[in-house]
Amino acid sequence: MILITGASGNVGRAVLEEVQKTGKPFRAMYRSQDDASKAPPNVSTVIADFADMDSLKKALAGVDSVYLVCSPIPDLVKLESNVIDACLEASVKHVVLNSALGAEDYAKSFPAWHRQVENKLKSSGLAYTILRPNGFMQNIAAYQAPSIRAQSAFYAAMGNAPTSFIDVRDIAVVVAKALASPTEHAGKTHELNGPEAVTYAELADRISKVANRKITYVDIPESAQQKSMLDLGMPAWQVTALLELQQYYTSGRGGQVTNVLPQLLDRQPRTLNKYLEEVKSEFSNQAAGA
Ligand SMILES: NC(=O)c1ccc[n+]([C@@H]2O[C@H](COP(=O)([O-])OP(=O)(O)OC[C@H]3O[C@@H](n4cnc5c(N)ncnc54)[C@H](OP(=O)(O)O)[C@@H]3O)[C@@H](O)[C@H]2O)c1
Repeated sequence: MILITGASGNVGRAVLEEVQKTGKPFRAMYRSQDDASKAPPNVSTVIADFADMDSLKKALAGVDSVYLVCSPIPDLVKLESNVIDACLEASVKHVVLNSALGAEDYAKSFPAWHRQVENKLKSSGLAYTILRPNGFMQNIAAYQAPSIRAQSAFYAAMGNAPTSFIDVRDIAVVVAKALASPTEHAGKTHELNGPEAVTYAELADRISKVANRKITYVDIPESAQQKSMLDLGMPAWQVTALLELQQYYTSGRGGQVTNVLPQLLDRQPRTLNKYLEEVKSEFSNQAAGA
């Protein structure tokens, strides 16, 4: 039996779909009955919270393999550590951990938190597979689309740094494969990069093509970006973590393209152009009512 944690989240939802395709028995974990009720039909669900060890014990009953993911929040290390402890007690055999690019070589922000969990998992004695994805293509619709709709522009302090965006659905395929074949994937750590590296200016050009109008990337000072995020009401810890993560990417380390993902997928990864085409309605111009 497989347990998919974070089944309401961006990657977790996609993982559920991919695991379902493998035909392996699985259970999807949610924090609320409301979210569980949105699971696809005939999916076995369980309500649990990483902060509640009793609930984890119930969620892990009879489980051999776990997909472990948590939101990027300051409690991530504690919460995911709880799950690893609960897995040990429940005699789980294999954990597939959703980490992040940078966990290897960046001592700040989300990558540093993920690294702590990786270390705990590696020393736990559990069989593990660690996945460190690059920035998600899906962030573009989630975070850039609102200002693109309103102002035909998006803003950051990325300079000319390239990012090898990855489609969340490709991460999910790799997770499902690792869960289905633990022996093949155990003990491995994979950095997952998308199929091409683009700068934000190039991204703006790509979006312009699918949106059918000029979209501009505006490079702003980090201090202006910080102010605008704080003005939007984002908590200070999150603003700091996002800016520090951006510094990792502006160092150029997010712009690698490797063979790891195609080899794991056994096909070419989903492309940025295809993704942008799929979500082009997200970029429709509000002012024009298009
Ligand atoms: N975004 C990127 O570009 C990127 C790149 C590389 C790595 N990552 C990493 O990928 C991971 C997943 O990202 P995502 O976008 O899929 O995150 P997400 O949408 O926030 O999903 C996280 C899941 O964790 C669950 N969760 C949070 N706190 C929990 C708790 N106390 N108990 C049980 N479940 C809990 C959430 O449940 P609720 O819905 O109930 O809150 C949600 O289902 C993150 O750790 C992030 O650092 C992200």
